[in-house]
Amino acid sequence: MSDSSQPFKEMWSNLQTLVNRQLEEALDQSGDCPPILKEAMSYSLSAGGKRLRPILVLLSCEACGGDQSTALPAACAIEMVHTYSLIHDDLPAMDDDELRRGLPTSHIKFGEANAILAGDALLTRAFELLANQIEVKSCAAACCVDLANAAGAVGMVGGQVADLESEHLENPTLEILEAIHKRKTGRLICSALTMGARIGGADPATLKNLERYGTCIGLAFQITDDLLDLTGDEEKMGKGVRKDADHGKLTYPSLIGVEESRRRSQNLIEEACLSIAPLGSHGQRLEELAHFILERDY
Ligand code: IPE
Ligand code: IPE
Ligand code: MG
Ligand code: MG
Ligand code: MG
Repeated sequence: MSDSSQPFKEMWSNLQTLVNRQLEEALDQSGDCPPILKEAMSYSLSAGGKRLRPILVLLSCEACGGDQSTALPAACAIEMVHTYSLIHDDLPAMDDDELRRGLPTSHIKFGEANAILAGDALLTRAFELLANQIEVKSCAAACCVDLANAAGAVGMVGGQVADLESEHLENPTLEILEAIHKRKTGRLICSALTMGARIGGADPATLKNLERYGTCIGLAFQITDDLLDLTGDEEKMGKGVRKDADHGKLTYPSLIGVEESRRRSQNLIEEACLSIAPLGSHGQRLEELAHFILERDY
């Protein structure tokens, strides 16, 4: 159990260290494969990153009374899926980016074919981890369903398709934009909460409350990402900035302006915090994390 008097940043950094160690182990144990593939998987996975999604899994589990260590396989699995999504998002056929997590993107370093395949391998390894390492098998199966739905056609992949289509939309609307952001980013973040809650033994009402929290912070997270593309610092972010407009991306600031985008993300964070109010002091870390999403500059 974590110490609730510890400063948020210190807690975050400790959990990052824990997750990083576990991710390394999970890759080491992934068996015999072509060295270039392992190198490419490890390159993107260990390049850094905030580790928001795995930390959410651990905090959600703990908020429900579970032991964080039981949620580590799900924490690693979601970070693998997220990292795969970033490798593919950066490909020339998608956002065509050359910098990620402070390093050249996977396809720049390893070539397009290896980047695509490293992404594929991270995705499949994630489900192996969930199925094999979550002890209660009914819970493992439910987590596989959560993560598959969040990552697949109705979630992240579907959202990425809609995001690319939106580059050519003549009449974009807020409804279309919200649907894209909820799918491409929101669903995966939401699954961090539901997987953590399941592993922590949440009752149905708590699971619903955490799902609502996840939906709100997930959308707010992508709104902030859109804002940071405009206002952020490339070095701090570790990725290219001021690119969305060049690509004709449909983003919150491009559609409703910077101030209204900020207001919307603030409202979402307030709604997120209200959703977990029934958890009382058990929800303290998640509440702090919701505010971090609003204030982040990387
Ligand atoms: C970037 O995600 C892609 C989005 C969904 C906005 P993060 O901002 O969590 O990236 P890392 O994991 O810290 O690199
Ligand atoms: C990414 O959205 C969403 C993913 C599913 C990876 P962006 O394309 O805005 O993410 P960044 O800005 O490249 O990190
Ligand atoms: Mg993209
Ligand atoms: Mg991108
Ligand atoms: Mg972006």
